[in-house]
Amino acid sequence: MPRYDLITIFPDYFSALDISLIGKARSAGLVEISVHDLREQAQGVHKSVDDTPYGGGAGMVMSPEPWGKAIDKLATSDEIHDLIVLTPAGKKFDQNMATKFSQHEHLIFACGRYEGIDHRVTEFYKSQPNFRVHEVSIGDYVLNGGEVATLVMLEAIIRLIPGVIGNPESLAEESHTLIADGESIVEYPNYTKPAVWRELCVPEVLLSGNHAAIKAYRSEEALKRTKNRE
Ligand code: ADE
Repeated sequence: MPRYDLITIFPDYFSALDISLIGKARSAGLVEISVHDLREQAQGVHKSVDDTPYGGGAGMVMSPEPWGKAIDKLATSDEIHDLIVLTPAGKKFDQNMATKFSQHEHLIFACGRYEGIDHRVTEFYKSQPNFRVHEVSIGDYVLNGGEVATLVMLEAIIRLIPGVIGNPESLAEESHTLIADGESIVEYPNYTKPAVWRELCVPEVLLSGNHAAIKAYRSEEALKRTKNRE
């Protein structure tokens, strides 16, 4: 079963993982998710996890030692661990990446806050034979921390795990499924009952029962939509 370990100073963010499809996948034993409070690895009365940046500048930087301890606790020497460090400076997350991560057995998500984590943490784990380190961004905007980015990634990854989605055919047809190397197409528009709503009609062809015509119509619409968002 794939295992996901999340390291954060705000474990409460991840209560969302108890509900809906992910909650069900966890109870069904399809995935295992554990949340770890970084502060438990911090020293001193204040359990501080950050400090001022060397070289000056605004904000605080997360100290390497609590991160090192938290990550080491989750690792074994005979397994490969994928360490995902959430940062706006990372590689842009997409469906292709979600597919790859959904095939990995153990993902560790490091949710940084403030101005990020001391760079030596990624540097150190990149040098370890039992780690693959991925710096990942969910988009070109700055969040307050990696927690929401982790939720986004987990939702995209877990729904690809066999058994999580009832009808696997829906995965094949939906938006952003890769059709060729690096190329994707978004989904055609969907309609349900009633056939007329606020004087707007469902396209005739969808009511025709002509499966070939429906298929042709849908791929045309999907291509149009794909072009329009560029
Ligand atoms: N942390 C802050 N901003 C982020 C982003 N855009 N993606 C991932 N992690 C982040």
